[in-house]
Amino acid sequence: MFEKKHIISMRDFSREEINYILNCAEKIEPLARTGTDILHNKLLALLFFEPSTRTQLSFDTAMKRLGGKTLSLSSESSSMLKGETLADTVKVIEGYADGIVLRHPKEGAARMASELSVIPVLNGGDGAGHHPTQTLLDLYTMRKESRLQDLDIALLGDLKYGRTVHSLAYALKMFDANISLVAPEELQMPKYIVDDLGGVTITNDIDEVIRDIDVLYVTRIQKERFPDPNEYHRVASSYRISSDTLAGVRDNFIIMHPLPRSDEIAPEIDNTKYAKYFTQSFNGVPVRMALLVLVMAGNI
Ligand code: CP
Repeated sequence: MFEKKHIISMRDFSREEINYILNCAEKIEPLARTGTDILHNKLLALLFFEPSTRTQLSFDTAMKRLGGKTLSLSSESSSMLKGETLADTVKVIEGYADGIVLRHPKEGAARMASELSVIPVLNGGDGAGHHPTQTLLDLYTMRKESRLQDLDIALLGDLKYGRTVHSLAYALKMFDANISLVAPEELQMPKYIVDDLGGVTITNDIDEVIRDIDVLYVTRIQKERFPDPNEYHRVASSYRISSDTLAGVRDNFIIMHPLPRSDEIAPEIDNTKYAKYFTQSFNGVPVRMALLVLVMAGNI
């Protein structure tokens, strides 16, 4: 179903395809610690032209747990510093590797790379665009720790520039989620996405929705988006989740975060039953293992 396919945007997937990938991840999860040799003769190129901890290292881990090997290239080490284009870089790498993971600051970069490449390109985040493998691990976590169908969920934080919430919102709608968008006005979800989603709740006050949701999905408010540091501190402090914020939440309530975080979730939350963000980051390994097997070997 996915052999040699590119993984660029959640908008390219049907609900059935998403369920199929999540089922494959569930099947492969026991091997995420012990390892296997399914991809022992394969090479994965990790092209990361923006910083990353989780996406880069979990793809690296996933490939190595599958018995494969990885090559890495970053902005600091590549000949793009000498002016080589991304297009030429991709055409060169396809001669070396069996798959490419690309993180790039420019929206649309992964789609462009996929149109040139004969080997699968997996989008590891393109500017404010998409982050589909993050979304798949988010959905996997929701399915395991809460539910996917008819979920009541609030997306909180930087909804304007946050690519994780853009990808996630589209996917959640396929599962009939009831979505609340919680952000200061200047960081609300772009209007074209809100229009595509249809029927969402928009608010700037988490207290309005916190007791009516199963999942709170928090994202980082990025300091660099605010010309005035005082304005950043005012906004960021009003979106900080503490024990007080969680008074009266549902019994099955959980908090997720794609990470990295700044101050938006108080450390006191980490040891509560609500905190699922470290489980979520681990889930990147089985989900990315499943994707790599599907695009490089065809089936699990
Ligand atoms: N969630 C996520 O994409 O994290 P990194 O930026 O560390 O890869």
